[in-house]
Amino acid sequence: LASTMPDNICGELHDEQANEVDKYLTPLKLSDRTLMELSIRFRREMDKGLCRDTNPTAAVKMLPTFVRSTPDGTEEGEFLALDLGGSNFRVLLVKVKANGKQKVEMENQIYDIPEHIMRGSGTEFFDHVVDCLSNFMEKRGIKDKKLPLGFTFSFPCQQTKIDESVLISWTKGFRASGVEGKDVVSLLRKSIKKRGDFDIDVVAVVNDTVGTMVTCGYDDHLCEIGLIVGTGTNACYMEQMRNLEVLEGDEGRMCVNTEWGAFGDDGSLEDLRTDYDREIDAGSLNPGKQLFEKMISGMYLGELVRLILVRMAKEQLLFRGQTPAKLLTTESFSVRNIYAIENDKKEEGLACAEKVLRDLGLDPSVEDCLATQRVCQIVSTRAAHLCAATLVAILRQIRDNKAAEKLRTTIGVDGSVYKNHPQFPRRLHKMVRRLVPDCDVRFLLSQDGSGKGSAMLLEVKTRMSEAMLQ
Ligand code: GLC
Repeated sequence: LASTMPDNICGELHDEQANEVDKYLTPLKLSDRTLMELSIRFRREMDKGLCRDTNPTAAVKMLPTFVRSTPDGTEEGEFLALDLGGSNFRVLLVKVKANGKQKVEMENQIYDIPEHIMRGSGTEFFDHVVDCLSNFMEKRGIKDKKLPLGFTFSFPCQQTKIDESVLISWTKGFRASGVEGKDVVSLLRKSIKKRGDFDIDVVAVVNDTVGTMVTCGYDDHLCEIGLIVGTGTNACYMEQMRNLEVLEGDEGRMCVNTEWGAFGDDGSLEDLRTDYDREIDAGSLNPGKQLFEKMISGMYLGELVRLILVRMAKEQLLFRGQTPAKLLTTESFSVRNIYAIENDKKEEGLACAEKVLRDLGLDPSVEDCLATQRVCQIVSTRAAHLCAATLVAILRQIRDNKAAEKLRTTIGVDGSVYKNHPQFPRRLHKMVRRLVPDCDVRFLLSQDGSGKGSAMLLEVKTRMSEAMLQ
């Protein structure tokens, strides 16, 4: 392994300003060696979560999903799905046809979840979800059908079977009261019953990572990992039952939801966390929780950049020391600004930087715009590289499970950062391949994967024996 990263970590800017900014941002730059070490550290955390004795205190929970098989491309049927927990709340109607060539048709609609509902009472929250579902069915004239429904619920849940899922804790921007510790399927059913104007059959709850893996598995049978880099970040993969000590049984494989966003919640990332990371955490809805996620995902990247800009301005390194009120306002720098500023065409990116900075009440010089672009690059490159390190741990685990010398596998990916950041996928792929040159990895972007997956999984359940999915 090359022991250190090249001086210019992104290899994209060679300006003197970049060097100045780089010097200031050194703690955010992670060498290959550090990333490899981090990958080994995460592998140990995975072990801790998998083993019966250490599981109760493990930060990385490694949750069983009761999904034991991925679709084989012959499923058929009509299903509803709810996709809750990402940047959008969506209701979907999925039709899977298998006449000759398999075909998936999908209709979906995005609904708003106002902030007061996200952070209000659990009953209001589920009533709102059910109102949206009702509206969706009404519009399509399917209210009298009792369709099976798959629920993609993107939060850490303790599952005992495929259709029972107890929320461990809310993450990201959600905080509806009285839901933690409860089975979300029961809450959903209760709200449907209370409404009383339609009925559905809630058949499966899955995490978005699992939904993504399942959907990608439909097109590529080698897919055994699901990755999300969106509002939050997380991954799942197919693990050997014999390694999943928290469950009985040694035969076959089961998908495990790692909940890697919680990596570091036991203090194991303190050497890599910076002052900015600590500041983000302190101001968040869930201090001390999801520390790895807070270094990576879309919900926090913009704010990380803003905090760095503020600090640099205060130290007279930027904006001639100006710090207008807007710049000092929490969340005034959105992750969408980063996507625009890191445009493939550097000049266009710079023009965006100028516009964003002006909107923040600044009068930026060219150097300010370049430096801002640089800060964005460093923050989002760190995110991509951190993801690469944990992904590599999963790849190695799968390779060792198979006792294979060279692993060939597919990673199904979804999430707003991965889809919208112009450089993120390339940086992630490159680092993964650099850290595990002996794995042949394909990244497969799933279109609407996380939601569709839970519906497609339903069909697997209808088709297969109960024993397969339990
Ligand atoms: C958060 C959730 C996790 C989800 C991820 C991506 O980390 O805890 O369950 O998969 O966000 O949406």
